[in-house]
Amino acid sequence: MAIAVTLHVLAAVIWVGGMFFAYFALRPAAQGFEPAVRLPLWTRALSRFFFWVWIAVLLLPASGYWMIFRVMGGMGSLPPYVNVMQGLGIVMILAYLHVFFAPYRRMRQAVVRGDWPEAGRRLGQIRRLILFNLTLGLATITLAVWASHYR
Ligand code: HEM
Repeated sequence: MAIAVTLHVLAAVIWVGGMFFAYFALRPAAQGFEPAVRLPLWTRALSRFFFWVWIAVLLLPASGYWMIFRVMGGMGSLPPYVNVMQGLGIVMILAYLHVFFAPYRRMRQAVVRGDWPEAGRRLGQIRRLILFNLTLGLATITLAVWASHYR
């Protein structure tokens, strides 16, 4: 259980912290650069970050369901906050899969073609979904820590 919860929390920290950095540090820092510099920089940064997000989106449910089925007695006897976490986690993972396979893929193709307006539009969609997932991620962590602490 200790190993599973540690891997689980590390995966959450890397994913949510990376989104925080992208939104609140890289985005304002990159503003003002020409599209031909800014957009390829974003595809390079996102491709490296998404490598780690893939590991996180596999590790979070794997470790979460391992704890549920091996330690907590299965789905029937879960504290309500774990059900909420599971629901929010699934929404976050689906939003990430959408980002990866739709706007991010189209943004990369647009950058290769040098189609900056299209790449910029796709980056805008990614930005909104990252803000959505960042909000859910911070809420999930707050809920998980409070609920397990005051249980
Ligand atoms: C399918 C998705 C998920 C499942 C099945 C799941 C399941 C679990 C379970 C069973 C625990 C242990 C609860 C306990 O010890 O009482 C846990 C802890 C935790 N989870 Fe999740 N989780 C999921 C997604 C997430 C996501 C997306 C985040 C954050 C972004 C998250 C953050 C945490 C944190 C921070 C803890 C530690 C709470 C503590 O011990 O203080 N989980 N999760």
